[in-house]
Amino acid sequence: METDSSSLEMNSLQLHKRARRARIENIRTLLVVGSGKGGVGKSTVSVNLAVALARQGASVGLLDGDAYGPSIPMMLGVRKKKAGQGSEVTLPLAHRGKLAPEQMLKPLLRYGIKIMSVGFFIGEEQAVAPMPDVLGAFIRQLLYSVDWGELDYLIVDLPPGNGEPQATLCRELQLDGALLVTTPQDIARIDTSKALAMFRDVDVPVLGVVQNMDGFLCPHCGERVEIFPRSREARAQLDDLLLLGSIPLDPAAAESGDRGQPVVVSKPESPVTTAFICIAKQVTTIIETNRTTAARQAPAENQEEAPVNQEEAETVKGDIFNNERED
Ligand SMILES: Nc1ncnc2c1ncn2[C@@H]1O[C@H](COP(=O)(O)OP(=O)(O)O)[C@@H](O)[C@H]1O
Ligand SMILES: [Mg+2]
Repeated sequence: METDSSSLEMNSLQLHKRARRARIENIRTLLVVGSGKGGVGKSTVSVNLAVALARQGASVGLLDGDAYGPSIPMMLGVRKKKAGQGSEVTLPLAHRGKLAPEQMLKPLLRYGIKIMSVGFFIGEEQAVAPMPDVLGAFIRQLLYSVDWGELDYLIVDLPPGNGEPQATLCRELQLDGALLVTTPQDIARIDTSKALAMFRDVDVPVLGVVQNMDGFLCPHCGERVEIFPRSREARAQLDDLLLLGSIPLDPAAAESGDRGQPVVVSKPESPVTTAFICIAKQVTTIIETNRTTAARQAPAENQEEAPVNQEEAETVKGDIFNNERED
């Protein structure tokens, strides 16, 4: 994978096309963390990147984009064990029209970041079954109905795959960057390549790839052990991406996630934390570089680009969790 800084700059065609999509008021940088594959560490990367950015002085929000399997509550220690009832479950996602400031959902604050998840409204063992086609409306509602305040970064932790809410996010919003998470295995890299192709198709800038679970350092002898078979197949598109960081498998990372304390907090000196800090610095550099490039290349277009508010955004119709829709 390439680490040449020349790949940091987007071309002007990408900037031009993206300028036509909406921005959310007061959110300076909208990032998504995705992968075609489940279980590769998207949520772990989202959480630790968010906290690492906050510790570098940025104001950061984290939105759990996984309605079926929200991980953010557990990873940040705000578990809801009791099942949600009635309007408690449906209310946050069934608002229509512009919300008054006092009606907006308040994000929770953990480790210096603002967080929101569907898991705050449903019990952790409660099943919800929104139809896949309303997941786009769900993400839109959470983006616009949460009182995020002013943020330098809002990170959306995506579910696996190339369906919703990815499609809605890519189509409607000006995403400032996507980070792809993969393990070294071919089975994960194939799916990650698909996610890459999806983002490229719609001109979302892919900032780079995070290679997670990349070897295991024996705590006793320090020897590096490859747990997952390293990919033998070249994948030109994926291999050309900037490698944002390589994160070893570390039982502390998994344990921290389950305990609700991100590993960058619980093990500040560990190689995993060092990798996350490095990724956060790279992301900041890339975003600032892209911003400077955009301002240089298209000053007029950037001025025309007005933020979109709740009124202009399509709102959720009907009760998502009961799968009833008003058309
Ligand atoms: N570098 C790592 N070392 C050890 N465990 C990890 C690491 N990254 C993720 N995990 C664990 O792997 C599991 C899947 O990670 P998760 O972030 O939930 O993946 P995804 O969001 O892609 O489904 C979780 O139990 C998590 O704690
Ligand atoms: Mg996840």
